[in-house]
Amino acid sequence: MIGRLNHVAIAVPDLAAASAMYRDVLGAEVSEAVELPAHGVSVVFVALPNTKIELLHPLGEKSPIAAFLARNPSGGMHHVCYEVEDILAARDHLKATGARVLGDGEPKIGAHDKPVLFLHPKDFAGTLVEIEQV
Ligand code: CO
Repeated sequence: MIGRLNHVAIAVPDLAAASAMYRDVLGAEVSEAVELPAHGVSVVFVALPNTKIELLHPLGEKSPIAAFLARNPSGGMHHVCYEVEDILAARDHLKATGARVLGDGEPKIGAHDKPVLFLHPKDFAGTLVEIEQV
């Protein structure tokens, strides 16, 4: 059902420092920081040949990243995003297997303007999973 790895998201306490580390130490191509107020994050996109890394930093009072960073002050992997062709079919299949879909189960428009859903980490080896329809 899942296809390509679309991105790995890493929450970081200092976006400029993390961006410089990916650019200068790891030699990757990094974007400017992009503010996504609707998602409560500022993001730097790191382009790799086969996927993307997203460096996430809290933006605003109700950021979904803030609690994660409070538990992981030096940052850490926040979620992985897998591509699916049909997000409603994927959701229905997942629910039928007993996997928990977060929120109300209806896809939301994600950071790439495509429908996304998040899946409970306890059902996926301790990893928050995002699925995105491409
Ligand atoms: Co994501």
